[in-house]
Amino acid sequence: MAPALSFPADFVWGVATSAFQIEGSATLDGKGPSIWDTFCRVPGAIADGSNGDIACDHVHRWAADLDIVQSLGVDAYRFSVSWPRVQPTGSGAWSTAGLDFYERLIDGLLERGVAPYLTLNHWDLPQALQDAGGWANRDTVHRFVDYARGIAARFGDRVASITTHNEPWVMANLGHESGIFAPGIRDRRQAMQVAHHLLLSHGLALQALRADGCACALGIVLNLSPVQPASPTPADIAQAHFEDGRLVRWYMDPLYHGRYPQDIVDFLGTDAPEVAPGDMAAIAQPMDFMGLNYYTRAVASAQGPWDVRQSGLELTDMGWEIYPEGLTELLLRLHRDYAVPPLFVTENGAAFQDTLLDGRIDDAGRTRYIASHIAAVGEALRLGVPMAGYMVWSLLDNFEWASGYEKRFGIVHVDYATQQRTLKDSALWYRDFLQQQQALRATRRAASTRG
Ligand code: FCB
Repeated sequence: MAPALSFPADFVWGVATSAFQIEGSATLDGKGPSIWDTFCRVPGAIADGSNGDIACDHVHRWAADLDIVQSLGVDAYRFSVSWPRVQPTGSGAWSTAGLDFYERLIDGLLERGVAPYLTLNHWDLPQALQDAGGWANRDTVHRFVDYARGIAARFGDRVASITTHNEPWVMANLGHESGIFAPGIRDRRQAMQVAHHLLLSHGLALQALRADGCACALGIVLNLSPVQPASPTPADIAQAHFEDGRLVRWYMDPLYHGRYPQDIVDFLGTDAPEVAPGDMAAIAQPMDFMGLNYYTRAVASAQGPWDVRQSGLELTDMGWEIYPEGLTELLLRLHRDYAVPPLFVTENGAAFQDTLLDGRIDDAGRTRYIASHIAAVGEALRLGVPMAGYMVWSLLDNFEWASGYEKRFGIVHVDYATQQRTLKDSALWYRDFLQQQQALRATRRAASTRG
């Protein structure tokens, strides 16, 4: 099952998590509430009525969790900093205890030979900033730049990379247009202003960190999918182009071309964001890398929402089609249409119902999913896309946002009653696969020294 591919010797293999989904300790040492702490209290917002108060209790179990990371043999660990843990109200005073937690985590990774890949914003905005208007308020842009500078000043010398935002589309559209994610607002105009402010704060943060002399690689992470027309009719093709505009071009065009796609600006009309002079140039900062989170394709139909059941493809427990070819297609398109820097797949993985039987989780479906997507990355590499790394989502089963704890994405099982961790078969497969990759690297290094 292992893709018999050899990846470049410096290709980065990793696993990923995010703060709110695993940390718990929601109020420890003066941590401020985030918009997700608040959203979890809204009746009906979370499928199982749960919250992030305990989650995987990672704040107390980080050392054992990092031992697991190390045992997998990965090169990198992607995690996020909880802004309200390090700066409880999103401005002003910093929390020493909060910063010390990430200090231990980062040093703990380095001691274990694993490169820290730090994300500044994986959705858990301090509630105090939301109370002042959140990402729709332009002032939050400047609060974020200050936060970024504080984190880079403290950790920039030890982390391999800093990502500004994880998935701006999700924060803008699911958080402010459909309202199914925190902060639960339903207002397209606000959503588009939020998207603009996220992009602007990304660009201004990159400028500020570079001016401060931050040496680590800087970039952003987007959730992208190829959008395929349901049929070759002109109406479906037009619908696919439109949906691609809202999901892909709305983010890629400003980041790489310094402008928003005109067809979507026209569609938005008075819902289009206010853009101040200089904003677009600020957004289009050169990046050292870009991250892409890929789970499935999108299918567009002029008849209305596409019903995945008609495709006949296997679905994951999220109801998402398993479609690894879409990853190759998307990577080729990004490389063709944009001057992309080295690309990482920063998230890829699948939720399935797992059964723990005699201490073992036979999750062959997840292994197949991961292996086929790694092969899709290998294919993109072969076709000339500058791929730099691949990270599995996720290290641990965790709090899957509006789905609560019902959906399990981990390659490591978490028993939430006891907090016991058990490596699933997919984790054992990934470990073996990485061992093979290391062996290939060693052979190639030996061959090249023999000249
Ligand atoms: C992505 C998120 C990540 C996780 C996966 C399944 O959109 O970045 O936190 O929830 O989906």
